[in-house]
Amino acid sequence: MSEPMTADEITRYVVARAIWAPSVHNTQPWRFTTDGGPQLSLHADTGRRLTVADPDGREMMISCGAALFSVRLALRSLGYIPETSVLPDPDQPTLVALVSWRERAAADEFERRLSSHLLSRRSHRGAFDPEPLPPGTLATLRAAAEREGAALRVVADDGHRAALAAAVQAAEHQLRCDGERVRELTRWTPAPGSAYRDGVPATAYPAWPEHTEPDFPGRDFARGHGWGLPPLSLATSHRAAGVAALLTTAADRPADWVHAGQALQRILLTASVGGAAAALHSQPAELPLLREFIRTQLSDGAYPHLVLRIGLVTQVAVSVRRDPEDVLFRAGP
Ligand SMILES: Cc1cc2nc3c(=O)[nH]c(=O)nc-3n(C[C@H](O)[C@H](O)[C@H](O)COP(=O)(O)O)c2cc1C
Repeated sequence: MSEPMTADEITRYVVARAIWAPSVHNTQPWRFTTDGGPQLSLHADTGRRLTVADPDGREMMISCGAALFSVRLALRSLGYIPETSVLPDPDQPTLVALVSWRERAAADEFERRLSSHLLSRRSHRGAFDPEPLPPGTLATLRAAAEREGAALRVVADDGHRAALAAAVQAAEHQLRCDGERVRELTRWTPAPGSAYRDGVPATAYPAWPEHTEPDFPGRDFARGHGWGLPPLSLATSHRAAGVAALLTTAADRPADWVHAGQALQRILLTASVGGAAAALHSQPAELPLLREFIRTQLSDGAYPHLVLRIGLVTQVAVSVRRDPEDVLFRAGP
C-alpha cells in the first residue's frame, strides 16, 4: 500500500491545481501560505490588482474566490473534507480564506469528474457552435451557482438579451477610448512568443473578432497588432452567441465577491464536465453606470459581476500560469 501524502505534498498538489483558476486578465492575484500543517491560507496579492479597472478589488476577490473553490475541490479529490473560513480576520482584509483538512470522506463520482477538469478548463472567446446545450445543462449550472451563495440568471428574453449585449458593446467602446485603461490592458497582454507566465497570451483569443447576433464584443487584447489565433474554419455564418447569463450576488461586500468567485469556478467546471464552455465579459461591470443599468433593469436588483455566454465549441485556447513555487510561501516567524 502506498504511503499517505504528507501535509506538504497535499498543499503542493492543491496549489498546483488552484493556480489554473480563472482570473481577470489572468492576473493570478493570489498567494498561498502554509506552516507545513494540514491548512492553507489564501491571500489576495494586491500588487496584481487592476488599479484602474478594479479600484475596489472586486474582480481581484472574484478571482481569488475561483482559486478557493479549486482548493476545496482538489482537497475533495484527495478524499479530504475542507473546512473553509472566508475573510476570517477583519484586521487582514487580504486574507481571503483559511482552509484546513482533517476529516476524510471519499470523493463522489461527480466531484471526481469536476476535479478532472481543474487543469484543462479554458475560457472561450468569440462565437459558439449553433447546436443547443444538452437538456438540463442550465438547471445544473444555476444550482451550481446557488450552492456557492450566488445566482446565475439566464437572460433568455430577446429584448433583455439585446439590452445586455448593448451594455457589453457600450462598455467595450468606452474602455477602448480610455487611455489609462488601454495602458493597463497593455500590461496584461504580452506579445506572441513572450516568456510571461501571466496576462492573456495571443494563444487565448481569436485574431479576428467573431461577431454574433446580438453581438457581445470581446476585449481588445490584440490592440491592432493582429495577434491571436487564426479561425478554425472560414464558415463563420452560423456561429452563435450562446446562452447569455449574469452571475450575481444579493449583496456587494468583499465576502459576496469571494462567493461569486467560488460560484464562477463551480459553474465553469460543471459546464466543462458537460462538454460546454463559457465566454466571460466583465466590461460593463467595470463601469458604474452600466453596472447599475444591468442591476436595475436586467437582474432584479441583484449585483452583477460577469456576463457569461455558455455554449458548445471546439476549444483551442492555450493559457499560461506562474509556477506553484512562485505563489506558495512558508509562513513563520
Ligand atoms: C473576474 C473575471 C473577469 C474576467 N473578465 C473577462 C473579460 O472581460 N473578457 C475575457 O475574455 N475574459 C475574462 N475573464 C477570463 C480571464 O481572462 C481568464 O480566466 C484568464 O485569462 C485565464 O485563462 P483561462 O480562464 O482560459 O484559464 C475574466 C475572469 C475573471 C475571473
